[in-house]
Amino acid sequence: IMLPLKEKDRPIVKKLLEAGCCARCVLRFCCLGVQSAYRQSYEDTARELCAFISDSENNESQDAAVLEQHTEDPPSKKMKMDAAEMDVQSEGDSAVVPTVMEEGDAEPADSDVCVVCLGVLQQFCDEAYAIKISEVVKAKNYQFDTMVLSVSLPAQLSVREHSCWLHVKKEVREKSMCLDMDDVIQVKEAFKWTMQGLVSKELGGVPVVNKFEVGVGFTHPETDSDCHFLMAVVKALEKVSDEKFLKKFPCPPTRPVSKCIAQDVQCLHVSVFVAGRYNKFSRTLPQTPWVIDGERRMESSVEELIAAPLLSSFRAEGFNFSSSGREDVDVRTLGNGRPFALELLNPHRARFNKAEVRQLQETINQSSDKIRVRDLQIVSRDAMGHMKEGEEDKTKSYTALIWTQKAINKDDITFLEETKVTQKTPLRVLHRRPLAVRERVIHTMSTCFLDAHHFHLKLRTQAGTYIKEFVHGDFGRTKPNLCDLLKSETDILELDVESVDVDWPPSIPE
Ligand SMILES: *[C@@H]1O[C@H](CO)[C@@H](O)[C@H](O)[C@H]1NC(C)=O
Ligand SMILES: *[C@@H]1O[C@H](CO)[C@@H](O)[C@H](O)[C@H]1NC(C)=O
Ligand SMILES: *[C@@H]1O[C@H](CO)[C@@H](O)[C@H](O)[C@H]1NC(C)=O
Ligand SMILES: [Zn+2]
Repeated sequence: IMLPLKEKDRPIVKKLLEAGCCARCVLRFCCLGVQSAYRQSYEDTARELCAFISDSENNESQDAAVLEQHTEDPPSKKMKMDAAEMDVQSEGDSAVVPTVMEEGDAEPADSDVCVVCLGVLQQFCDEAYAIKISEVVKAKNYQFDTMVLSVSLPAQLSVREHSCWLHVKKEVREKSMCLDMDDVIQVKEAFKWTMQGLVSKELGGVPVVNKFEVGVGFTHPETDSDCHFLMAVVKALEKVSDEKFLKKFPCPPTRPVSKCIAQDVQCLHVSVFVAGRYNKFSRTLPQTPWVIDGERRMESSVEELIAAPLLSSFRAEGFNFSSSGREDVDVRTLGNGRPFALELLNPHRARFNKAEVRQLQETINQSSDKIRVRDLQIVSRDAMGHMKEGEEDKTKSYTALIWTQKAINKDDITFLEETKVTQKTPLRVLHRRPLAVRERVIHTMSTCFLDAHHFHLKLRTQAGTYIKEFVHGDFGRTKPNLCDLLKSETDILELDVESVDVDWPPSIPE
């Protein structure tokens, strides 16, 4: 006998096998935490268990030998167990033996679906099934260097587990270290102990790291309705009294006809994050898709232009775009550009070297005249935080083309360079950010006269200052504003962002 079972496990093993538990579920209920025991072939385990229980009926000297092996048991305990064993023995001579013999005949064969795991640990827990899983994974053509297996089981399995626990609770509590149902090895654990290594081996021996997840799921239509009496099964099982449970559900569980059905194997690679800076040269390009009343207003957007080549190169399933602030659709972003980061969801390819990333940047650059990208790089999820941290305190520089109704000359506007301006949260964003009633400061301004009704105003401001509101006053919320200062109706004709002073992501030398 190779399984580290103890004499005291014998009545539990017997009772579970009689109830229609599979060999591996028997090990679980014996709270056997030795992983290799579950990796042994199902047939060997089943055979050993049958031998283990028939020994107890047919061969007393074997019993003694088994007991002898367990020297870790203190002698006093051993004596007690010998006595207990004698009880079973005398009982067995008359009534139990025939039943057990029948059970021996019905030794868990392929057609015998386990009453608890519904076949998961019998038919889906071997090298052949590991090969099946890994073939599906290979066909999905992912690039990965680690792998974890996850498994989802039908909810009714918990109900059956509970019923089975009630069936042997008394024996288990008396004989083993398990005091609680939580001490029983879970189906998921036993499944992973066996299958994680096998699947990983089939996939080239990749280490177990939670970067690439292979998901295996099972359903069991035959018994789906079993747990309809419990709404949220697991939660409900914690509360339900044994009496109430036993009124609603057979104990031990009924024998199923069919085994579980394996669902499609799912693969999920952790997100890859790509960061960079973008320029936007168009005054008709929104940063994100512009949808009003479910209707698309602009044919493209900054995020889509950047994401398209990345989605196809990383073979990702979707993306999540974020940036350091944003500009209005009619505002250009010049200079070194605006920092952005893109989360690529479930990428099939994740490794790109520097040259390949540069190639991606060129592909984006060439895909449209409306944007350009620089400093493109793969970053960690954590590094993305740098983009948002301290964002409010950074400075931004703008150039605005201003129109004045009143004719001006060069000297009429130079005084602006000495003017201090603070701004309250503009009305148009108050509904979006009711708490952000912070004041913003325009640090410096300079002017460049163009003609009697036009000049360029350059501004260096605290991030978050609203330039358009400064020009037309926003009903007195920006003091002073350009209309007041120039004593003329004024308008902003064009606006460019000249720089966004966030020093992330790090610049990449050309
Ligand atoms: C009983 O056990 C002894 C010693 O372990 C062994 O030699 C013998 O073959 C066994 N008998 C049966 C009927 O299994
Ligand atoms: C996109 O990012 C936001 C913020 O980081 C996050 O809450 C959200 O779950 C992400 N969306 C997806 C689909 O991952
Ligand atoms: C893409 O455009 C930016 C901005 O013009 C430039 O700095 C960068 O070198 C270009 N990159 C490639 C690879 O073409
Ligand atoms: Zn089972």
